[in-house]
Amino acid sequence: MPPVKNLLLLPLALCLLAAPAAAQDAQIGRGYELYKKNNCKMCHSLGGEGNRMGKAHDGVGGRLKPEEIRQWLVDPKAMAQKTGSTMKPPMTPFKHLPKADIDALVAYLASLK
Ligand code: HEC
Repeated sequence: MPPVKNLLLLPLALCLLAAPAAAQDAQIGRGYELYKKNNCKMCHSLGGEGNRMGKAHDGVGGRLKPEEIRQWLVDPKAMAQKTGSTMKPPMTPFKHLPKADIDALVAYLASLK
């Protein structure tokens, strides 16, 4: 009876699909906390909050690839050179953060579409 068997497998298939999505949500939530904790808003604005003189992060996930966001965090000097950024003060590097924190920050910023 293949149809019945397929029906039984359906909930399992849905669980497998939902699990990575939930993990991704948790990662984004952690990134949001780290964004606050590391005071990114001192030089950036988001949703009308933070430093309005700084570069707005609204929609940054649609403008930059996750790899570019990561580069800004670990080597902002190279990125500023590459993009010709002259904004002052220049971005401080965050490469001292654990990789898991960088991953979460990248996931959070990439989700801002
Ligand atoms: C001392 C000021 C400063 C701090 C603190 C800072 N940034 Fe930046 N950031 C900058 C400047 C300046 C740029 C370059 C903006 C430009 O010229 O386009 C930049 C660029 C970026 C970009 C690329 C933006 C784009 O749209 O091209 C990202 C992403 C970014 N910062 C993330 C962060 C995150 C996340 C934090 C906190 C962990 C942070 N920044 C903290 C100053 C800062």
